[in-house]
Amino acid sequence: MTDLLYWLQGPVPETAPPKVEMPPWGETKVVGKPLPRVDAYERVSGSAVYPLDFALPDMLHAAILRCPRAHAVVKSVDTSAAEKMPGVRAVITGKTPGADIPWFRGRGKWFSKLFDERARYEGDEVAAVAAETRAQAYDALKAIKVEYEELAFVLDPREALESDAPLIHEGTNRYGDPADYARGDVAAGFAAADAVVEGTYSTACEIHSPMEVHGSVVKWDGNRLTVWDTTQGVFEVQEAVAQSLKLPLANVRVIGHYMGGGFGSKLEAGKYTVIAALLAKTTARPVKLFLSREEEFLASGNRPANTMTVKVGAKKDGTLTAIEFSSIGSGGAYPNGASTSFLATDLYTCPNVKARDENVAINAGRARAMRAPGFPQGAWALEQAMDALAIKLGMDPVALRLANVPKASQRRGNQPYTSTGLAECLRDGAKAFGWSEARKRPKGDGPVRKGVGVASALWGYGGGPPATVVVKLYADGSVNVNTGAADIGTGTKTVMAQVVAEELGVPVEKIQIEHADTGTTQYSGPSGGSKTVPSDMPAARAAAIEVRNKLLAGAAEDLKLPFEELRLEGPDVVSAKDPSKKVAVTAVKALERHQVLVGVGTRGPNVEGKVISMFATHFAEVEVNTRTGEVTVTRLLAAQDSARVMNRLTFECQVQGGLVMGLGLGRTEERVLDRQTGKMCNANWHDYKIPTALDVPAEQKVLSVDLVDTECNTAGAKGVGEPATIPTAAAIANAVHDAVGVRVHDSPITPPRLVALLSGRGKKG
Ligand code: MOS
Repeated sequence: MTDLLYWLQGPVPETAPPKVEMPPWGETKVVGKPLPRVDAYERVSGSAVYPLDFALPDMLHAAILRCPRAHAVVKSVDTSAAEKMPGVRAVITGKTPGADIPWFRGRGKWFSKLFDERARYEGDEVAAVAAETRAQAYDALKAIKVEYEELAFVLDPREALESDAPLIHEGTNRYGDPADYARGDVAAGFAAADAVVEGTYSTACEIHSPMEVHGSVVKWDGNRLTVWDTTQGVFEVQEAVAQSLKLPLANVRVIGHYMGGGFGSKLEAGKYTVIAALLAKTTARPVKLFLSREEEFLASGNRPANTMTVKVGAKKDGTLTAIEFSSIGSGGAYPNGASTSFLATDLYTCPNVKARDENVAINAGRARAMRAPGFPQGAWALEQAMDALAIKLGMDPVALRLANVPKASQRRGNQPYTSTGLAECLRDGAKAFGWSEARKRPKGDGPVRKGVGVASALWGYGGGPPATVVVKLYADGSVNVNTGAADIGTGTKTVMAQVVAEELGVPVEKIQIEHADTGTTQYSGPSGGSKTVPSDMPAARAAAIEVRNKLLAGAAEDLKLPFEELRLEGPDVVSAKDPSKKVAVTAVKALERHQVLVGVGTRGPNVEGKVISMFATHFAEVEVNTRTGEVTVTRLLAAQDSARVMNRLTFECQVQGGLVMGLGLGRTEERVLDRQTGKMCNANWHDYKIPTALDVPAEQKVLSVDLVDTECNTAGAKGVGEPATIPTAAAIANAVHDAVGVRVHDSPITPPRLVALLSGRGKKG
């Protein structure tokens, strides 16, 4: 799995197996229910304090000067005028003592610095200012005089591999050798096929665009640093900041309570935090540094553009015989992942598979993990190819997929999945969508044609250790839950309260969550990879069971009954044999004596020899205006296999959001780089189009196939965040093909692109 999780570098840490028995849940009372979020009121009323809202007395405001060119040597930086500007308290550059800090590590070496003398994309950091107000800081940036020596730049990964391409790093523009994968004999597989399709597909670069821009507020207290950060993982930020500033981990406290979206772009520490810390040290004042929306587009990460060639062969009955897949993408100016081949090698049963991923440096903003990194791109290519293959075979696209549902992960040594809900997603989804009827319906004979499409996916990471959760039951029966995990907007706190409520019989309202603070909570990995529920909920369950056991042991003493005979029922501990024998939880003497009962739950290892994956199938209905090329998505349905649904409401919210992001990939989102200057043309929310309420179909349905999986973990839940967005765009493209008979190989499906195809000017397939 390390090929997927390039953002998780080094060995995966572990926690000890839990100390308590945790038989699989059967029927649950609280888990699974559509409970509103425990912090819904705070979030909606605006009383929740996000890092962007956070202010400290005496705080300065900082801003970063970024290189306006795609590729340049920073010859000199003159800060003298800026230092004299009103309100300015500090200006720093790479030459400032303590600011010579390496940055962007990959493949065992550092690729840049906090302020590099070589700027490799429009947005690279050159200097920073702290001033009394934000406006004064931005004014001062304009007074910094920088002398640049412009260098030739390259924006396209294929051009970056040409022999005369400008070099972005030493020696080569490749980030490592091409990553090759093979099993079986692809040539023999294609020779044995009755039908073969081949095509080249591309996806545009997408920007994460979280509502809350990236940034931190920092404060020194002697040699201790406190950081309020908008982050998916406080411990990742702690580690990077401590390393950069050469501080012990114990001296860096990172707090990340609320955060306004990240989608992967907030899995790691940003330069802004370290820059703010340097400015705060120099000025002996707290410093707030948040990116502007424009900087967010340039320098906070992206889902890289990929160009993928896919060839698929099958027998008349739909049995796949061979898949060949190659992809070239770019981690950007600094290394990050750009591989997209995983689905092609693992989603369907196929004995002969060959895949190659190439990752090339270009002079543009660096990629960062973005919701299911690599997978929506891979699905765009593979699932359109599967659609074309179905048409060639004269098969229904759902039937073709059903003919190739895997029971084992072929990419991972043929280990069986703990559960495979792909067939259920296809069948139940098709039924709920009205697939067969919609497919047979006339397309229309006016300018507007209707069509439907389908696409599937898996997400191959089911969480695991480390995670530790502490549960405290207080003397008055209220409960405190303590976890290092961030709630990135998915409802982590709510689901964890439900887990604890389930085991302790305490109403959710009596449970308070302390979370995401390296100073006061236990280690948990970053909230990403759809792993928070499967990683942290088992630990929460173990902690709650430990508290329950302590409570029941205390009640057993008080009632002089055997421990095994006792049950928790609402506010009481009751004898299962004789319900008249009971004691109120708050009257249990052990609780009175200790004032608080504590349970420490850990996440044990995953089941050996098996693979945990989530599956999904999305269905789309579109109307295509053949005169204007406009596509209206009229219906979407997502059938998801995440095994247990922990909260029907937050689950549905996750999937609805995933569908909208998929709609963005398919229909509207595209980073546009100017070939003349190398600058981003649409670094704003007016020109970079993310779907709005008007773009979202009126009918968007979420279906969980509700498989029982007792092996994936002790919560029985596999996670949902990422699989909810992987196949959407491909399903929309397939629906467009169904409506008008042209295949849009390149995302997004814009009116000009589609009009060109409809008039025969683009490539068809
Ligand atoms: Mo996700 S891209 O692992 O936040």
